[in-house]
Amino acid sequence: MTQDTALIDATGTPEDAAAAPERKVFIKTYGCQMNVYDSGRMSDALASEGYVTTDDMEDADLVLLNTCHIREKAAEKVYSALGRLRETKKVRAAEGREFMIGVAGCVAQAEGDEIARREPAVDVVIGPQTYHRLPQALRRARIGERVVDTEYALEDKFEHLPDPTKTKGRVRSVTAFLTVQEGCDKFCTFCVVPYTRGSEVSRPLLQIVSEAEKLVADGVRELTLLGQNVNAWHGVDAAGRAIGLGDLLYRLAEIPGLARLRYTTSHPRDMDDRLIEAHRDLRMLMPYLHLPVQAGSDRILKAMNRRHKAAEYVALIERIRAARPDIALSGDFIVGFPGETDEDFRATLDLVETVGYAQAYSFKYSTRPGTPGADLPDHVPEEIKVERLARLQELLLKQQQEFSQSLIGRTIDLLLEKPGRLPGQLIGRSPWLQSVNVDANSSQIGDIINVRITAAGPNSLFAEVAEG
Ligand code: 5AD
Ligand code: SF4
Repeated sequence: MTQDTALIDATGTPEDAAAAPERKVFIKTYGCQMNVYDSGRMSDALASEGYVTTDDMEDADLVLLNTCHIREKAAEKVYSALGRLRETKKVRAAEGREFMIGVAGCVAQAEGDEIARREPAVDVVIGPQTYHRLPQALRRARIGERVVDTEYALEDKFEHLPDPTKTKGRVRSVTAFLTVQEGCDKFCTFCVVPYTRGSEVSRPLLQIVSEAEKLVADGVRELTLLGQNVNAWHGVDAAGRAIGLGDLLYRLAEIPGLARLRYTTSHPRDMDDRLIEAHRDLRMLMPYLHLPVQAGSDRILKAMNRRHKAAEYVALIERIRAARPDIALSGDFIVGFPGETDEDFRATLDLVETVGYAQAYSFKYSTRPGTPGADLPDHVPEEIKVERLARLQELLLKQQQEFSQSLIGRTIDLLLEKPGRLPGQLIGRSPWLQSVNVDANSSQIGDIINVRITAAGPNSLFAEVAEG
């Protein structure tokens, strides 16, 4: 699944200055890439209401928290942020200046009424499936109503959102996310996603192709397809034939000007033959795959309802590597799931040793009320979770550093994304999603250039332009 740990400020849409009265919105995005995508689409929707995006909260008339519910801490952060915003609202009220507070995303979906009860300063609560109605919700709130809109909308929000490439002032980028699928029917016993994002829904092929073509016409060179269970995507082609994510990738690969494709996040059960063929055939499908396994013990995998065994996962990785030998793996791991013994944990370490990851996210199990895992016996004491996480992270970090070191001296393709800190320096992405600094005076953002890796730091690589 998609969520990762990064906390991101999404401030994608400055200046639509023509509209009056001009209001400013500050959007704080928590959690996964899908929330980053959603924040962008919410700021497009707000731009059509005359809102410009600011990255200075002090300056904002509306603060929107786009929240994550995946672990307990993520939800707690929202309530403490709301406490601080309540104080700001009091100060603004004394100055006679508008200050509205909105909560969007998965905490909004899961705890909408609870948020409204606990935090009277909140004006609008809006779920991930209804955010196309945000402008109306704000208008209703402005005349004194408190709006909680977390029903699953019958209409397709994507049909009601403004074209992301048409929003004036949206920061243009050479990489973009594109949501193709939302929700999850897998019901892993630790996970809230099936409850917050609902059941699996795939966007239609033509809607996706059309959004991709617009993004590419707007200068995007790399697209990352998003979904909580992206490889469960399914649709129908022009001939009415049922197709899956592999076919979608072949179709998108035909778009002239598009240089790179990625997708995240996948479930091992949905890695079908066609998708593996796409990794074999499409050079533009980057050789990097986020394929969470969560644990290495079959007993724990069963209790987690992952519906595959550790050996099946390892065999799958072997098939994918046979199809695309330069592929690098990324994963998600949970330590301290209820009932996890030392022996079970050892099996996770063994699996990590066997697979070898270029990158990974790992977490202590966090009890989520309402999920089946919460009711299991034998919860693991906190100090054991802490110790297991430290051991796992030590191993994963070692593998990550070994992978980075193995690239030193190699010539690779780099998509240049943004200026670096020093003059003449640019920052790009390797095929394996690493950030790479290069001195490249004669190249521009959006170019894909050949570089030789010269050094590896803890979070990024360094390179020089390769001759010829
Ligand atoms: N506790 C800890 N980690 C969790 N994840 C999902 N739910 C929980 C939970 N209750 C992790 C999984 C998932 C990632 C996005 O977050 O590893 O793949
Ligand atoms: Fe991923 Fe399982 Fe959660 Fe679905 S239920 S989003 S597969 S972790």
